[in-house]
Amino acid sequence: MLLARRLARPLREMSIAAHELATGRRDIRVAATGPTEVAEVGDALNRLATALVTSEQRQREFLLSVSHELRTPLTAIRGFAEALADGITPPDEVPGTGQVVLAEALRLDRLVRDLLDLARLGADDFHVDPATVDMTGIVGAAARVWERRCSAEGVPLRVELPDGPVVAVTDAARCRQILDGLAENALRVVPAGAPIVFALRKEGEHAVIEVRDAGPGLTAEDCSVAFERSVLYERYRGIRPVSTGLGLALVAGLTARLGGQAEAGTAPEGGAAFTIRLPTAG
Ligand SMILES: Nc1ncnc2c1ncn2[C@@H]1O[C@H](COP(=O)(O)OP(=O)(O)O)[C@@H](O)[C@H]1O
Ligand SMILES: [Mg+2]
Repeated sequence: MLLARRLARPLREMSIAAHELATGRRDIRVAATGPTEVAEVGDALNRLATALVTSEQRQREFLLSVSHELRTPLTAIRGFAEALADGITPPDEVPGTGQVVLAEALRLDRLVRDLLDLARLGADDFHVDPATVDMTGIVGAAARVWERRCSAEGVPLRVELPDGPVVAVTDAARCRQILDGLAENALRVVPAGAPIVFALRKEGEHAVIEVRDAGPGLTAEDCSVAFERSVLYERYRGIRPVSTGLGLALVAGLTARLGGQAEAGTAPEGGAAFTIRLPTAG
């Protein structure tokens, strides 16, 4: 009887607390008392409540930063469109105005697409299309496209491919999306003349893709938060050119969906090195 009561009271308290948490209250904490196992449940419940607060806080901050990012191009589009509608744009400035509006619309489009992809990554129906592919083909195809974009900015693109094929069962289009996201970041920060490197090699059961650059690089602290959405973006906005702040979060999310891991570090070239490790076909 005594034991039953010692167990029942804290358990009932926890049950009430869990219900309160479920209805949205976040200031609930239980006393972690009673027999060890029961106290552990209380502890876990308290940790859950704290984790919920942190996660909800992050969501709010994210929404705020996204709204801000949506507003900036919208304000520009609206201003230019109003000037056009009012007929106060001199005729010779019309094409330039059109170009600004177009560029801002493309930025919005990009932001919305990244947001959708990120949201879908968290859902179960995210679409990956695995097939047996040779990764040298994927990296080679990406390199051909990026060579052109890089050389237009005076940036040499080096490609390091292994002699033989690197066969993996993976989604080629998603791999490409990862590579493109990393290459885009690198090209945005490297000065003309400094190289970008696409490297592929096989390490045991893994295909390892690297995108390295000779740009300003990332600190060790940067690297530890590199894949958290918006964090580096907020840190470097105004210091380095930035885009939507979602690219690296997408890179990490896509990599995880493909069964791999993404890592940020320092390149021998002096800038940042991003390493994507994907499982191979064995
Ligand atoms: N290769 C790189 N070298 C230096 N800084 C980088 C590199 N890649 C990313 N960053 C920094 O990390 C930030 C976040 O990257 P990302 O998530 O792709 O967002 P975005 O490219 O939209 O700004 C960038 O804005 C940039 O400041
Ligand atoms: Mg990016």
